[in-house]
Amino acid sequence: MLDIDLICESLPGRTVLWLEQTDSTMLDAARLAEGGCPSGTVVGAEEQTAGQGRHGRSWVSGRGEGLYFSIVLRLPLEPAQQPMVTMALGLAVAEAIAHTSGAAVDLRWPNDVMIGDKKVCGILVQQQHTALICGIGINVNQDSFPAGIAPIAGSLRLATGRRLNREPMAIEVLRAIDRHVEILVKDGPEAILRLFTAASSYVRGRRVVVEQGDRELRGVTAGLDGGGFLILRQDDGSETVILAGGVRPERTEG
Ligand code: BTN
Repeated sequence: MLDIDLICESLPGRTVLWLEQTDSTMLDAARLAEGGCPSGTVVGAEEQTAGQGRHGRSWVSGRGEGLYFSIVLRLPLEPAQQPMVTMALGLAVAEAIAHTSGAAVDLRWPNDVMIGDKKVCGILVQQQHTALICGIGINVNQDSFPAGIAPIAGSLRLATGRRLNREPMAIEVLRAIDRHVEILVKDGPEAILRLFTAASSYVRGRRVVVEQGDRELRGVTAGLDGGGFLILRQDDGSETVILAGGVRPERTEG
């Protein structure tokens, strides 16, 4: 079990709960939010039996291998600014992973943290009334993944060749989240857009395929619009604003 006392001592004034096992910390955090918990409350687990990913997928959450937690945020933001929270969280996690592991990280729009072409962290944000339930899953010490996701999933251990302590990483991630949320609230979405554009190799000039339901769009990324959505310049010269969907590098055959 993660040393929860160490985390609480390092983050005075914050409620951090850590469970041996749960279905999904998204559900635990939603219950805490419903009960009126303060902004910043964290609930994590050693293992999730029904970890949730984006687009209805599941999140593999093996016992003690990763960091799986949800944080409840109550922020003074307009609804239109909320997509920016997911980008602020991505920036925060990427920065914390880079500091604690030394790995060179990238951000794949809107908020996957990547090392090379492998995803090492996923972020899921759900709105519940006035609260945001922000789930973060970081693959820390996994040494393998199920065959179905092995080609696309990575861990910090696989990337660095070392096992990493999860406590310093959790502390760094939570501090970085506080800093980036403050940037968003105080300096506005433009500041997060600038930081994200600087941190992500996917935002500009990257040839990608975007999955949109059962069709695929191909083109070159051409920056973010004011709402944080990705602009794709398709091969016929038209520009499409990508509101959601999986973005992946286009592989050339041969
Ligand atoms: C994604 O698909 O990229 C998002 C994955 C989010 C996983 C985390 S793990 C902690 C929290 N609890 C969940 O059930 N999901 C999120």
